[in-house]
Amino acid sequence: MSSAEIESVLHENRVFEPSSDFVKQANISGMPAYQVLCDEAERDYEGFWARHARDNLLWQKPFSRVLDESDAPFFKWFDDGELNASYNCLDRHLNAQPNKIAIIFEADDGTVTKVSYKQLFHKVCQFANGLKSLGIKPGDRVVIYMPMSIEAVAAMQACARIGATHSVVFGGFSAKSLQDRISDAGAVAVLTADGQMRGGKEIPLKPTVDEAIAMGGCGSVKNMVVYKRTGSDISMQEGRDVWLSDLVQNQPDVCEPTWVKAEHPLFILYTSGSTGKPKGVQHSTAGYLLHAILTMKWTFDYKGSDVFWCTADVGWVTGHTYIAYGPLAVGASQVVFEGVPTFPDANRFWKMIEDHSVTVFYTAPTAIRSLIKLGAELPKQHDLSSLRLLGTVGEPINPEAWIWYYQEVGGGRCPIVDTWWQTETGGHLLTPLPGATPLKPGSCTFPLPGIMADIVDETGESVPKGHGGILVLKKPWPSMIRTIWGDPERFKKSYYPDDFRGKQYYLAGDGASRDEDGYIWIMGRIDDVLNVSGHRLGTMEIESALVAHDLVAEAAIVGKPHDVKGEAVIAFVVLKGARPSGEEAKKIAKTLRDWVGQDIGAIAKPEEIRFGDNLPKTRSGKIMRRLLRAIAKGEEITQDVSTLENPQILEQLKETI
Ligand code: WT7
Repeated sequence: MSSAEIESVLHENRVFEPSSDFVKQANISGMPAYQVLCDEAERDYEGFWARHARDNLLWQKPFSRVLDESDAPFFKWFDDGELNASYNCLDRHLNAQPNKIAIIFEADDGTVTKVSYKQLFHKVCQFANGLKSLGIKPGDRVVIYMPMSIEAVAAMQACARIGATHSVVFGGFSAKSLQDRISDAGAVAVLTADGQMRGGKEIPLKPTVDEAIAMGGCGSVKNMVVYKRTGSDISMQEGRDVWLSDLVQNQPDVCEPTWVKAEHPLFILYTSGSTGKPKGVQHSTAGYLLHAILTMKWTFDYKGSDVFWCTADVGWVTGHTYIAYGPLAVGASQVVFEGVPTFPDANRFWKMIEDHSVTVFYTAPTAIRSLIKLGAELPKQHDLSSLRLLGTVGEPINPEAWIWYYQEVGGGRCPIVDTWWQTETGGHLLTPLPGATPLKPGSCTFPLPGIMADIVDETGESVPKGHGGILVLKKPWPSMIRTIWGDPERFKKSYYPDDFRGKQYYLAGDGASRDEDGYIWIMGRIDDVLNVSGHRLGTMEIESALVAHDLVAEAAIVGKPHDVKGEAVIAFVVLKGARPSGEEAKKIAKTLRDWVGQDIGAIAKPEEIRFGDNLPKTRSGKIMRRLLRAIAKGEEITQDVSTLENPQILEQLKETI
């Protein structure tokens, strides 16, 4: 990040205090209350987390140890305790509120289905018994490739109930991406659906799973369970594939939870890193669930009367923590949505908030920006007075979008929690507390109590206020990533590199700065990872996809600021033959975009492709990405290019098609 960029964010000086009405009813009210919790964690770190783990989780066997650092950085929390995540999300509510609505599901076409806690409990138990009947055992990996549905949440809960480790793959990922993940996880089963509905269009799922398995490397898969969603024609393989309705039909609707160790892997979720291969982020049971619960209470100020709505897909970590686990564990009523914000039109979110009387609404800045474009005046046409709290996640929010969200959606009365976290962190780490923190539009403000975040330089020294640096976590926390599935070395290298002069800090991969008031501003990734519409994409992943095409000799991917997506993917490509131009270039660009879509998924398709005879390289052959980024942005190149092997290439690459 340039010093000019840091300068500009650090001069945001509008401050929005929480209203006294909000403060009065808040779970943590006022900065002094926040400070008390922070001080407690500072004084007695393990005692702080142990107290919360005892108060918030139901343990089958209580833990006696809190943090075990003996095999650092493979930290363990509460590790001699035993519990079950599904028990903590469902059974615990059966006496107190069996008939409370757990999920209000709205399908793409607007059909609404509701299930109570008791109904969801029985659904999950039958599903779990069905999985058991297939021979699925604790510790087995189960891939879930399903549309947003009550069944998808039940599938995750059913795995948790029997101690199977789920790995959800977002329905937008290609057969190739799915195959990679099934094979890396060594999954014994895939839970899927015939298809899914998004924006009125049907998207096949089961055929994609068949395609993935046909690619090979998926020999571990013994069973496939298919939820009938669209009713479209699909082929079922005798002996391997079973309809969900048949699987659960004669199953008992009660299933004893399988008690697991606190550190038992609840799930693996693949995310992009700076090399080509996605990383299987492995999470624990107890520490993860604890943070999901605490952040429901702290960040979302959860109250029994809330109607919570997180618009993420369960294919991403946000949909794990703030759909499948957090809201259920605290006993919330939540909206689960199958469709997209723009179908049938850009009123959809606002209409749904009105229809379901949503009180806490959590979405991504990219959705907010696109809805501003499609109809900044639309929220006014709806009664949004049920809302009391708004949240954002996944990428920085620009102050203009923040102000619009605050005024037009929140009516100037709802605090906005800008939550910074990652697949690896399990839940929020940096976020305002809505009844305490004075907000600055675009800043995720301060760390949660017990989270030892700092901004440091290359030597691990804290940078002074008003400066930028590297975001680190100085102490392990309960919901952190435990390892990368099957690759502990990569875990160490990615998150605990030998930087910072031997200090053992978790490296988040983000740049950040702190302003004069101590507010934290996230400045974006410092590694080769892009953030497109709040989704993480590795530049190397897209480059590998491109060079796997017959026509391509070399490719480099960079990000370029985009007013809706946050960042857009720009590809610089060298073909094996001559550099194409005119219509031919257009045709090849389309072929390559579709190819990337096929290989990874539609989200990875480059926005723009530019062709050159070569890429700008140093004399030692290193691609100068900084120059490519400047070209992509259309900036004048002011850097010294004298070390460049081939400066004339720059002119070619400035040409767009
Ligand atoms: C990366 C993590 C967290 C769940 C969804 C994304 C960026 C995330 C914010 C925020 C600025 C943010 C970071 C982070 N990010 N939240 N509030 N402000 N940047 O999870 O796919 O693991 O991506 O998203 O760069 O490292 P993810």
